[in-house]
Amino acid sequence: MSRRRALVILSFSLTCILIAHPYSRKMANTTKFMPPQSLTRTGAIVVGSGLAGLSAASQLISYNVPVHLLERSPKPGGNSIKASSGINGAPTKYQPIPDTEFYGDTLKSVGKVLANSRDKRENLISLLTTFSSDAISWLVDDRGIDLSKVAQLGGHSRPRTHRGSGQTPPGASIVMTLLNALKTSPLFQLKTSCLVTKVLKSGDEVTGVEYTCEGGEAGELHGPVVFASGGFAGDAEGLLAHYRPDLAGFPSTNDPKPGSQTLLTDVGAQLLDMELVQVHPTGFVDPKNPLTPLKFLAAEILRGEGGLLMLDGRRFYNEMETRENVTNAITRNPAADASPRQWNVQLVLDEGVYNAAKSHIDFYLWKGLMRKATVADLGPNALASIQQYADAAAGRVGDPFGRSTFADWNLRDATPESVVYVGRVTPVVHFTMGGVVINERSEVLNADDTPIRGLWAAGEVTGGVHGENRLGGSSLLECVVFGRIAGDQAAAFFNKSK
Ligand code: FAD
Ligand code: SIN
Repeated sequence: MSRRRALVILSFSLTCILIAHPYSRKMANTTKFMPPQSLTRTGAIVVGSGLAGLSAASQLISYNVPVHLLERSPKPGGNSIKASSGINGAPTKYQPIPDTEFYGDTLKSVGKVLANSRDKRENLISLLTTFSSDAISWLVDDRGIDLSKVAQLGGHSRPRTHRGSGQTPPGASIVMTLLNALKTSPLFQLKTSCLVTKVLKSGDEVTGVEYTCEGGEAGELHGPVVFASGGFAGDAEGLLAHYRPDLAGFPSTNDPKPGSQTLLTDVGAQLLDMELVQVHPTGFVDPKNPLTPLKFLAAEILRGEGGLLMLDGRRFYNEMETRENVTNAITRNPAADASPRQWNVQLVLDEGVYNAAKSHIDFYLWKGLMRKATVADLGPNALASIQQYADAAAGRVGDPFGRSTFADWNLRDATPESVVYVGRVTPVVHFTMGGVVINERSEVLNADDTPIRGLWAAGEVTGGVHGENRLGGSSLLECVVFGRIAGDQAAAFFNKSK
């Protein structure tokens, strides 16, 4: 562990002790370990090979604990490998200005549900934001990942979302770097196409998992379990239909797959916020296949770098508002298509935005999701809207929708011939804020807030950190922060049990 991380952990622990609310007191006496005698633990078990699982596995390996990582898909990486806008952190070497607003921005984004379970949420959010600086440093300084470009996404009061300056999107570069490092360790075993079907419990302790693999292998593994199985935004017929039937018919950025939260509730895990689902405002409607329910995400970074949105040819809202608010501003209008339910929103960029996010936009142009056009091509009302936006970006007038940052937008005097980049986008089910309840040690809590011994969780499978709206870039961050904590805790548990 780096000296810096140790200091951050120490200061956070001291803060928790000083605050000493009942929640942290309850956690303090849960570490006594009484292993069931009959089981041979061959290592720790990590379920899911997205960023949360890989972060936990990296920590476990750093303590010389063998790791069995089980992944149901043939390819590792989960949704994490698709992440395209970046990961939040502040302050960092690329964003050195002190940034105390990150905590406040996150609390604000949580919304009204903050009042329910306030202590738990504040504790987790404090950890998330306090450790964000350390998380970026772990990826950049310890792992050598390029995260040198920083942008501002919706609902953030400052730029703090990090991505690389090259061609590789941030999710892919982070996931591949961690995975490749893990693969060099003889202690690391990855089993893909292996579905965990049950969490095993003996008395009040989780002792392992049952799994089944394509090809016929099936069995049990014994040891402490870190669950990092992601969300349920792709579970349209199952958990999503149960908790949010009103979202039926919305397209999604997630592959259709069942959520795994019920494996955890089967062993007593408590759920929180399951009805809070993020509908991201901008999934591309592919002109070649407009009615497909699985959409490619139009990364928020495009708006963050200066892009604007128009509904049926007119600008209508502050693009830098939270996703929840931008989506609501779209869906309060009649949908353009009934199945899937989609709207006719245009994402418009100028040459300045193109240059700032060139690798993203070149890819979308190549996929046919965006096209190069002129303002005149966007319809009769577009010129007035774009001129008004350009005036606001130039500081000549205030923005009628309250947008205050225009990043790299540089078109100052729009004419019908001005070059723009445009793609049709629509709201898409993207992320599930709800999941199993964890404490600041990433221990999974049961209904009476007691940690379930031998079981940790991190990433999108957990609930409570984001409330009603997750800020862009905070999911990758939560994977690293809570995944690493889960790895640290499971390693200590495993080593005590030897
Ligand atoms: P995942 O990465 O989804 O991994 C979970 C893994 O567990 C999966 O591989 C799954 O197959 C496996 N699994 C599930 N159940 C089982 C089981 N029973 N047995 C075995 N394996 C199982 N967030 C950001 O912060 N920044 C971004 O730029 C960003 N961009 C995004 C772009 C897209 C297109 C999408 C879809 C999401 C994006 N997000 C972004 C959100 C973020 O990527 C995810 O929320 C986050 O990566 C979740 O990580 P995770 O490790 O919790 O889960
Ligand atoms: C995006 O790129 O818009 C997604 C970022 C995120 O989900 O945090």
